[in-house]
Amino acid sequence: LIASFQPKVLAGKRILITAGPTFEAIDPVRGITNLSSGKMGYAVARAAREAGAEVVLVSGPTALPAPFGVQRINVQSAMQMHDAVMANVDHQHIFIAVAAVADWRISNASEQKLKKNPDGSVPDLKFEQNPDILATVAARTSLAGHPYCVGFAAESENLVQFGADKREKKGIPLLVGNIGHHTFGQDDNTIILFDENGHTILPRADKLTLARQLISEISKRITQHSL
Ligand code: CTP
Ligand code: CA
Repeated sequence: LIASFQPKVLAGKRILITAGPTFEAIDPVRGITNLSSGKMGYAVARAAREAGAEVVLVSGPTALPAPFGVQRINVQSAMQMHDAVMANVDHQHIFIAVAAVADWRISNASEQKLKKNPDGSVPDLKFEQNPDILATVAARTSLAGHPYCVGFAAESENLVQFGADKREKKGIPLLVGNIGHHTFGQDDNTIILFDENGHTILPRADKLTLARQLISEISKRITQHSL
């Protein structure tokens, strides 16, 4: 019902969104993951759909139902998220990377459950860096189009400086900063938008309200972006 009152600022646009954490296996029963409930990414997917967009949501493990009218692709690891994004990125107008992607996977994961050693020695885990999905999409030059890319960053300190630096490093036009301990698992959030003109703070609100504001900000900006 509420959806019908949202202006259709993204009618005819295709949007690809990542959300949730990724999970990197250590063995069949254990793994490492990032803190993320998926609430913000799912709110962005819902807001984009309300705004008239066709939405594909690539989601790591969460406890959330797929938003109405959104095509969800479930993944577990960062590699799977990368592959699902690359398989769906052609002809997208906008890519929004909300997922908390694990920066490393375990390169010597065990096919069988690891057993504790009686002598107390610990497993010798080896790490390997995962591909940067957002930077890969942002750097892509393809006849199938290059979407307007939006990143998210959860920093634990110095958000204004780190946010501006991260936007430049990733080569993206818009980065959304949020302060980790103010957002994880919560229903509301405070976010800062970083673009080429500096930064703007969106005051604390519930994640759906912020997601709708973000979609409105993106729709204003893509008119200047050659899709
Ligand atoms: N991201 C991604 N793929 C990765 C890591 C991050 O797509 N392998 C995306 C996230 O979805 C987010 C943005 O990049 O939109 C920023 O993530 P963040 O972890 O803050 O950035 P990193 O470049 O990984 O830097 P840091 O060392 O601070 O973790
Ligand atoms: Ca990271």
